[in-house]
Amino acid sequence: MIIQKEETLNEYMQQLAKKAAFSIGYPFATDFNYEEIYSLFRFPLFNLGDPYMEGNYGVNSFKMEREVIDFFADLFRAPKNNYSGYITSGGSESNLYGLYMARELYPDGILYYSSESHYSVPKAARLLNITAVEVCSGKNGEIDYDDLLHMMKQNRHLPAIIVANIGTTMKEAKDDIPKIKSILQELLIESHYIHCDAALSGAYLPLLEKDAAFDFANGVDSIACSGHKFIGSPIPCGIVVVKKNNKDHVSEYIPYIESVDSTITGTRNGLSSVFLWYAIRHFGRDGLLKRAEESLYLAEYTHQKLLENNINSHRNDMAITVTFEKPSDSLCHKWQLATNSECSHMICMPGISKEKIDSFIAELVNEKKYNDAVLQS
Ligand SMILES: Cc1ncc(COP(=O)(O)O)c(C=O)c1O
Repeated sequence: MIIQKEETLNEYMQQLAKKAAFSIGYPFATDFNYEEIYSLFRFPLFNLGDPYMEGNYGVNSFKMEREVIDFFADLFRAPKNNYSGYITSGGSESNLYGLYMARELYPDGILYYSSESHYSVPKAARLLNITAVEVCSGKNGEIDYDDLLHMMKQNRHLPAIIVANIGTTMKEAKDDIPKIKSILQELLIESHYIHCDAALSGAYLPLLEKDAAFDFANGVDSIACSGHKFIGSPIPCGIVVVKKNNKDHVSEYIPYIESVDSTITGTRNGLSSVFLWYAIRHFGRDGLLKRAEESLYLAEYTHQKLLENNINSHRNDMAITVTFEKPSDSLCHKWQLATNSECSHMICMPGISKEKIDSFIAELVNEKKYNDAVLQS
């Protein structure tokens, strides 16, 4: 029995290593090393309730969780005395939480999101029973501002809840907050809530831009980010930063845990907070910035190399995502490329090497040459 278990595990590990060697389509950083904190796996490390209130369960990581929230609140220029948040299970839960705040504030609000928004956004609207309107997107993946104006005009008597994509899933397009705000102003919609879905770009754009247009200083109300994407973690996780006064609306004291229930899930995993805390301490702001610059450099390198080889490719400004014409199913499968009807993409996450990019492009070019030759014969 024991031998069987070892064999099965070994086989599984080998398969996993092979798969990991060809994973370039998903936005997961791979340059992390958490060996120093492996011994934490011996503990039932769980965070129950609000990270800002120590309850009666002591085997938690609230202190680190709060430090991670502080780091992101600072990055997102959240109001110093009015921010809160927690470490979620991922960007999807962070979106759900941001929209939960919005729904509590504006129960009759209409949610506007773009056709390029992540599927967790319309799903959150369904879960929260918010009336939602899908707005068209432009070719680069950004929301279509004329359509947004048109849609909002029809409901201008109702509060507006807007999800701005700060890096769409497929093309990493960023919606323009100042433009969205000027539409709200033009339509005289005073009751509004802007939630930013910054699952991928949220963790690095503010390091590169002094005045990241999507942050609290620019008038947004909540920001969602994934932790296992740019920062990197073996467990999916996310960060959500909201305004404290909005969170207070949904908080309820639970005598049993001697704490406040202000999160979506009950018992939350405490490891993710430590991983994120460790990564932030390990890399520091400068190290994270360096990783972002390397990713941007590799994305531009990839984009140019594809164009040089006559492969249609697109890269949005400040994006680490490169889209290109969809290759064969077998290449998509081998390199685990996320693909829609239009295109595939690769994401130059920290941990990907130039050599890996080169081998992928070589296969892509060979396939194109072969297909072109077949077409001509
Ligand atoms: C723009 C965007 N939002 C939200 C999510 C969901 O994040 P998670 O997979 O961490 O739940 C993703 C995931 O790819 C995403 O690309």
